[in-house]
Amino acid sequence: MGVHFGISVLFVVCLLGLSANAKDFTITAPPGSDITSLLLKTFNEACQFPTRSSVLIPKGEYKLRQIEMMGPCKAPIRITLQGTVKADGNVNGNDYWVAFRRINGFKLNGGGIFDGEGNAAWRANNCHKMALTQCKKLPISIRFDFVTDAKIRGITSLDSKNFHINVLGARNMTLEEITIIAPEESPNTDGIHVGRSVGVQIINSNIKTGDDCISIGDGTRDLLVERVTCGPGHGISIGSLGLYVKEEDVTGIRVVNSTLINTDNGVRIKTWPSAACSTTASGIHFENIILKNVTNPILIDQEYCPWNRCNKNKPSTIKLVDISFKHIRGTSGNKDAVKLLCSKGFPCKNVQIGDIDIKYTGADGPATFQCSNVSPTLMGTQVPKACSSPVTKLPGQ
Ligand SMILES: *[C@@H]1O[C@H](CO)[C@@H](O)[C@H](O)[C@H]1NC(C)=O
Ligand SMILES: *[C@@H]1O[C@H](CO)[C@@H](O)[C@H](O)[C@H]1NC(C)=O
Ligand SMILES: *[C@@H]1O[C@H](CO)[C@@H](O)[C@H](O)[C@H]1NC(C)=O
Repeated sequence: MGVHFGISVLFVVCLLGLSANAKDFTITAPPGSDITSLLLKTFNEACQFPTRSSVLIPKGEYKLRQIEMMGPCKAPIRITLQGTVKADGNVNGNDYWVAFRRINGFKLNGGGIFDGEGNAAWRANNCHKMALTQCKKLPISIRFDFVTDAKIRGITSLDSKNFHINVLGARNMTLEEITIIAPEESPNTDGIHVGRSVGVQIINSNIKTGDDCISIGDGTRDLLVERVTCGPGHGISIGSLGLYVKEEDVTGIRVVNSTLINTDNGVRIKTWPSAACSTTASGIHFENIILKNVTNPILIDQEYCPWNRCNKNKPSTIKLVDISFKHIRGTSGNKDAVKLLCSKGFPCKNVQIGDIDIKYTGADGPATFQCSNVSPTLMGTQVPKACSSPVTKLPGQ
């Protein structure tokens, strides 16, 4: 007892000692001013501090130009954004606005807003109409590159010019209570894109945007999406996969207890025909999803080929294995409630469908459930009846 008590006291004293050594920085600047240089200088100082540190951006509106906050830092670091930082309308060909890079033990919180001021840029943007090589690249609002053991909590991204949040090369990162807002018609404004990352969780967040709510790129492993509400936007998407030569496998994706409202797609997996690589996407599970007026609620599309940028005669070489859709219910905005269109060359393997209840009330109804190159294992309710409809052509074919 005495020994245990002694150790506990020592432990508490140590903790107090550590926190006494923590260093808290505050950005003190007049409202409306440009804080770019001050924030960069303060971040670098905090980053070099030998023990835990924090940087506070207080309430108020500030201008922020392109900024790269680069680790590695000497100890864990927290950035608390209480105010609003505004990008300007200008586009300088940069591919990001705010970047956090190579930081281990990172926190970003505070309830503040990253306002990308995308409005003018969207109107000038033509990426969604042209080949990728021809369009002008607009900056992603917030990039997290190679950030590990991180918690991003309670921040808002407003009107990004391109993607709102891009996560690349992360390990053990939680994004929680994130709010994303952009108009339905804003192009390429994916909410959160995750690629080449392990152990990312997106929890309890609300995403209203013009493109994918959450998009999951190659090399993503052990991703959890839980209690996320999407809409408007293009829904939750794995892929597109197979566009590039050096892609990595996707494995262990769970999307649970989430809601999609008025989105263009619900939950989907898309891979390119005539893919440039032969990767496998496996262990992908969608469970307990509520749909309200969702166009294409459940979709596997292995002939994803927008703007005819590919050869559709060559079946996709991306293998889809161990996929499930369970307990998915609500209303579809069109007749095609479920489409599982797998590759002719590599039919989908071990697909499970259970407790699907999707209604469509349009004049051309009722809802359909199409399958090609897949024989799913069925469990529980199936409304519409699984694989009951012949495959019709995809739009644009
Ligand atoms: C994950 O990151 C959090 C910080 O957000 C940290 O507390 C935790 O120990 C990390 N977990 C692992 C398994 O590294
Ligand atoms: C979904 O939420 C319910 C409570 O509403 C909970 O019991 C369940 O464990 C959650 N499911 C998953 C897969 O997290
Ligand atoms: C259904 O969703 C579409 C967008 O996909 C939207 O235009 C339409 O207004 C929605 N309908 C209702 C009744 O909310």
